[in-house]
Amino acid sequence: MKLSHVLPEPADTHGLGVELAGILRAGDLVVLVGPLGAGKTALTQGIGVGLGVREPVTSPTFVIARVHRGGRVPLVHVDAYRLGSVADVDDLDLDASAAESVTIVEWGQGLVEQLADEHLEVRLERRDDDVRTVELVPHGQGWIERLHV
Ligand SMILES: Nc1ncnc2c1ncn2[C@@H]1O[C@H](COP(=O)(O)OP(=O)(O)O)[C@@H](O)[C@H]1O
Ligand SMILES: [Mg+2]
Repeated sequence: MKLSHVLPEPADTHGLGVELAGILRAGDLVVLVGPLGAGKTALTQGIGVGLGVREPVTSPTFVIARVHRGGRVPLVHVDAYRLGSVADVDDLDLDASAAESVTIVEWGQGLVEQLADEHLEVRLERRDDDVRTVELVPHGQGWIERLHV
């Protein structure tokens, strides 16, 4: 899949999430990096649709994390904004293990990378003209191969 994306509309962010979902599998860790309003939650909503989750994926800000089931693989959506450290996502006491789920983390940069051997970093930016740009940055050989870099 392409590493650089220019996303003029919310629907484009959503569509990229759907596309990304197509290559996600159990045990994956995806770290979303970008400022408030960059589209991290919107991208996760697209991932949810792509995985076949039926319920709406909303921002988990006040609950830290949410598990969405009913899709191809459970989707664990984490907002790490208020977490000082994460020894293990399993410490969040979710009813799902990271190994059996796809884990998507907002605000987790520098905090959650050690939870998995490899991870996909998704860098989102909001340009002055409101267009969003996204860069996929693979960390680990598996992700390099999966993205055909
Ligand atoms: N490609 C885009 N172009 C314009 N607006 C977008 C785009 N992607 C998302 N948005 C909008 O930006 C707003 C903030 O998105 P959100 O996903 O909540 O950001 P974050 O989770 O990074 O804080 C939402 O209203 C969303 O619809
Ligand atoms: Mg958000």
